[in-house]
This record gives sequence, C-alpha cells and structure tokens, in this order.
Amino acid sequence: MILGITGQNHDASMALIDGQNIVWAAHSERYSRTKNDEHLNSEIIKDMYQYGSPTSVVWFEKPNQKSLRRLWAGQTPWYEHPKHELKTLGLGRLPIEYVGHHESHAAGGFYTSGFTDASVLVVDAIGEWDTVSIWQADSKGMKKVWGKKYPNSIGLFYTAFTDYLGLKPNEEEYILMGMAAFGKPVLAEYFKKEFFTKFKGPNFKLRHNLHRGCRWWENLGGVNKFDIAASVQAVMEEYLVNTVNWIKNNLPSNNLVFMGGCALNCVANSRIANIYKNVWIMPNPGDAGSAIGAVAAYTKQHLTWTTPYLGTDIDRELDIESIVADLLNGKVVAVANGRAEFGPRALGNRSLLCDPRGPNAKSRMNQLKKREEFRPFAPAILEEQADMYFDMPVQSSPYMQFVARCRLPEAFPGICHVDNTSRVQTVNHAHNPKFRSLLELWYEKSGCPMLMNTSLNIKGEPLVNSWADAQRWQQLNGVQVF
Ligand SMILES: [Fe+2]
Repeated sequence: MILGITGQNHDASMALIDGQNIVWAAHSERYSRTKNDEHLNSEIIKDMYQYGSPTSVVWFEKPNQKSLRRLWAGQTPWYEHPKHELKTLGLGRLPIEYVGHHESHAAGGFYTSGFTDASVLVVDAIGEWDTVSIWQADSKGMKKVWGKKYPNSIGLFYTAFTDYLGLKPNEEEYILMGMAAFGKPVLAEYFKKEFFTKFKGPNFKLRHNLHRGCRWWENLGGVNKFDIAASVQAVMEEYLVNTVNWIKNNLPSNNLVFMGGCALNCVANSRIANIYKNVWIMPNPGDAGSAIGAVAAYTKQHLTWTTPYLGTDIDRELDIESIVADLLNGKVVAVANGRAEFGPRALGNRSLLCDPRGPNAKSRMNQLKKREEFRPFAPAILEEQADMYFDMPVQSSPYMQFVARCRLPEAFPGICHVDNTSRVQTVNHAHNPKFRSLLELWYEKSGCPMLMNTSLNIKGEPLVNSWADAQRWQQLNGVQVF
C-alpha cells in the first residue's frame, strides 16, 4: 500500500492506496480540530492504520523546488523537510518519493476520471512554481503542454481580493464567490487593466506580485464590497472560460478534467460545463485531494473512483424513521454516520438537515449554524427529480460542484441564492445508500424530494469527525445527533 501525503501547506491530508483502490483518505484538520491544519498528527495516523500499513510514501510536491521558489519570493526556504516531519510521526522508516505539485493535481483528476483520454486544466494560487498548467492525458500517460509560473497567478489575484475584503485567504474564497451574486461587476474591465498587462486565456501577465495581497489598492470610487467581489469573480470566470475554449480549440480530447483550488469555484464550473459535455472535477480538487493525486502521479495508474466517503467511520445504525419524524415536525436534524467526506463539503454523512420549504427554513437552520445571513444553504435532492426543480448544467451532481437555477425560488427561498441559483447535490443509491433511503422516506411522507443540507460543525471548527465530536456538538446545541 502507498501512502499519499499533502502537508506543510494549508489543509494537510493523507490517502492510502492499494493498487487501484483508494481505501482511506482524510484531512488532518478533522483529527486535530484545527481548521485547515497544515500539519499531520498522531490521530490521523492511528486512523490510517485501521485500513492498512503503507510500505512507501509519495509526497505531493518537490521540496527542493518549493524551497527555491520560497527563497526567490523572500520567504523562509522550507521550515521543515517532509522527511523530518514523517520521522517525528513514526513514519520515518518508509521510503519517500516526491512528485510535482501540479502533476499531483493533474494526475488526481485524470486517473480518477474514468476517461481513457482527456485535456487537463490545473489552476491554483501556486505550486512549486506553476500556477496554471494544461496537460494532454491518454493511455501513454500525461504530457504538460502549457504552463504559467509564479508570480503570474490568477489564483493569487482571487486570493489577494479575498484578503482585501476582510476574509481569510486560502480558506474563505468561497465566501467571496457567494458575495459576488449580490454585486455588479462594475470594476471587471478596470481590474483587467489595473492588475494585468496581458489578459487572454490561457496566457496572461500580472502587473504586480499579489503574493502578499493587494491591500495597497485604493478603492478611489468607493465601490461597495459586493461589487468588488462580483468584479473579481467576473475576471476569474472570463479567464477560465477563455482558457477552456482555447483548450477545446487546440487539444484533441472531448473530455475535460479541471483541478486545483480554483476548481472549487462552482459558479465558474457551471460555465465550463456548458463548453464541455464531459467534465470531471475530482470532489477534492484542491491541495488536500493531492494526497490521492500524488500516488496517481507516481504510479501512473488509473484509480477506481467509487466514493468521496473515505474518512473516519462512525459505524452505527441510522434511525431513518425517527429522523423523518423529526423533519416532519419542523426540526433541524443532525446526522453523523458512516465514513466522513474527503473534501470540503458535507454530503450527508456529517450533515445538518431540514425541510427546505417555506420562508422560515433558513432562519431555522441559522439558529444552529449562526453564519452570515446572505449565504444560502444547499439542497440535496433525489437525482431523478433534480431536473424538475433545477435547470441543471450537468446530469448528475453528487459532489455539489455546480450551481443550477432553481425553477421554484419562491417555494424554496432558503436554498436559493440572491440570483435564484442553488449548489445542488443529487443523490442516487450508488452515491450514498443510507442518505438515499432517508431522502426517499422523506419524499414519501412529505411529498418534497429534497432536504436543506449543511455541514455539521461547531462554529470555527472543521466538520465533525468522530462520534465523540458528534456528542460534543450534541451537548453544546441540545439537539440529538443521529
Ligand atoms: Fe495546488
């Protein structure tokens, strides 16, 4: 078995691969309870050993190249070599291989896609040096055909404005994306001139190094933060659409794989899905997913993708009858059951659920979640019913990677954003049998084929991981966890 590791970056993670099977994958933060934890810990390693013992390690990037870039950028070169960290964690005896950061992203996407050939686009803030890369992948392997290097980075542009708007860079980019729907992209053309000397797609050149943010930018026109967010989002979408069109016109495959942290931008993803019919975005396309990608980059073998439920197991019966009874009584229900989601989103195994109908659904949920009022919640819906309620850009969306216009926004205001779109999770039996059964019984009793779904976490903490975490949540909130 090979252990893939992402570490010393935001969101450390591990994945255990046995031949073509991903047997376990998890985020470090879920065990340390520190959001976006960059280090590994003894608890995650203890959990890994329940699934097997690795014989070697593949690290998701090349430390020497990263050190060099950090030196070039005026940062400390490398504060802890991976070998040293592994030794501290009792894994020092294992041989270790290193693969490239963008190569890990590309391989994680292509080798889990099920495609025999694909064009692969990777866009993130920064790897060792790469910030955008385009690959041609087929039975002979993957070949990089185009790349852009630091300090030119469209991801850093987005992250710099995340920071500018008072949000946490490398973590709260999704909030900027949500804010964008409330604004108008009045500064998009200005940003393209002020921040870029060249803006095409895939090619571009930044006028400034944005690694340390852009707080120096003077908002002379006093443009409100929602219009700024809309403008940043518009620039990102235009770049990605241009780039994907370029790929379509220049590379032979009919299949597109999109990876890197920017592939978490589900609004942009929906526009990309209009260009390519066959799009695969691994459910954890950012650096944490590269724990799987690193192994794929090293073995160059296809992996059988069956599920994102790859983490800690809470092996208990799920009392679906009682859950549905509570939902029918208008209650918010907490579920912590089965294996934890590998990826940023709760997909039914560590979720808070409630009836999405009516004007009060959102405030009911917010009594527990206590988050910004402007942010909507997502719907989880029986897959075959999705088209009736949403204008779906893709046939199936089991990992909440795309947004779709809701056909009945007045009936479901809690799951609709201000622009009447929803980040839809479609559920069929193969995706998650227990969650599917729950939705089926809910539909049978209520006539409503969807539930409002959000992550089960204590504010400021990562998703609930173990049953002990779930019990702590229960004590704090006075709500039973199923
Ligand atoms: Fe990355």
